[in-house]
Amino acid sequence: MKKTSAPGVLARFRAPKLPVPRQGDTALVTGATSGIGAATAKELVKRQFRVVGTSRDPGSAAARANTPDGVELIPLDLGDPTSIAGVPDELAKIGAGPVTVLVNNAGESQNGPLEELPRDALERLFQVNVIGHVELTQALLPQMRAARRGRIVFVGSMLGSFPLAYRGSYGASKAAIKAFAFSARREVARFGIGVSVMEPGAINTGLSERRTIYVDDHGPYAEEFATMLTHLNNNEADGITAEPVAGEILRAVSDARPRPLYATGSSARFAFPAARLLPRDTMGGIIAAKHGL
Ligand SMILES: NC(=O)c1ccc[n+]([C@@H]2O[C@H](COP(=O)([O-])OP(=O)(O)OC[C@H]3O[C@@H](n4cnc5c(N)ncnc54)[C@H](OP(=O)(O)O)[C@@H]3O)[C@@H](O)[C@H]2O)c1
Repeated sequence: MKKTSAPGVLARFRAPKLPVPRQGDTALVTGATSGIGAATAKELVKRQFRVVGTSRDPGSAAARANTPDGVELIPLDLGDPTSIAGVPDELAKIGAGPVTVLVNNAGESQNGPLEELPRDALERLFQVNVIGHVELTQALLPQMRAARRGRIVFVGSMLGSFPLAYRGSYGASKAAIKAFAFSARREVARFGIGVSVMEPGAINTGLSERRTIYVDDHGPYAEEFATMLTHLNNNEADGITAEPVAGEILRAVSDARPRPLYATGSSARFAFPAARLLPRDTMGGIIAAKHGL
């Protein structure tokens, strides 16, 4: 009887080699007017893709000023299903496509204790961070399947792997998108399409100023929440820049065998191996302590 060696068994489960998107292909980056999205769009331009970015208000002076040179902007509000459904038409209007690189980057950073998170805030967060990107991916997958090549990168967060107090809704949205991505990875590989998740740690993009916050200032969580938020904002201000994150996203686009998960910032290199060794409570305690808790 033929014996299969341990490395042989593992090789069977190795990620498949997939076609790499080509120079001149259309790359779509959601939320290209700021931070990680702008840095990724800039890097894609450098690598000679035709880069289309999105903004809720592409005509605004702020959007135009913050979008890298060479990036064409189209409108997209992930909170609005009609706007999402209109993306293929917006691309057709400017003669772009088929999209073979999709970077699902835009997102809301929500904060608050579980007990005080309003239902409408939760619904908006999950629409923007999860359902919106799922719907956009659904709208663009037919083009990628027809092209027989594609890369989809979902920008999650290390909080999707390492939950933190008062960031439950945000972490849950990022864990949810990761589960969608890991599942779809197997579904679309046979069409030559790679799916990866990029989990950034604390990145200095100015996101602190744009966080949505739901906490009763006079309630039972107010004091500890304020401590957490101060540490969170300080960690972000001390965080790495968006460029290394863009570099990792570009690895997911250009690796012959794209990995399921890329991560950078907040000592990602140590955090993921440590999480495999340490009890969950110990790991959770370390992360809480990093946030003053
Ligand atoms: N910065 C961090 O520390 C960090 C850490 C982990 C994960 N992340 C994740 O990385 C991604 C980018 O973060 P960032 O720090 O670069 O954020 P950012 O600087 O605030 O940029 C967010 C981008 O998303 C767009 N956007 C916001 N709401 C939107 C909506 N409802 N529909 C469509 N577009 C929308 C904005 O464009 P317009 O305003 O022009 O529409 C903007 O270009 C997010 O998914 C975030 O959760 C960030």
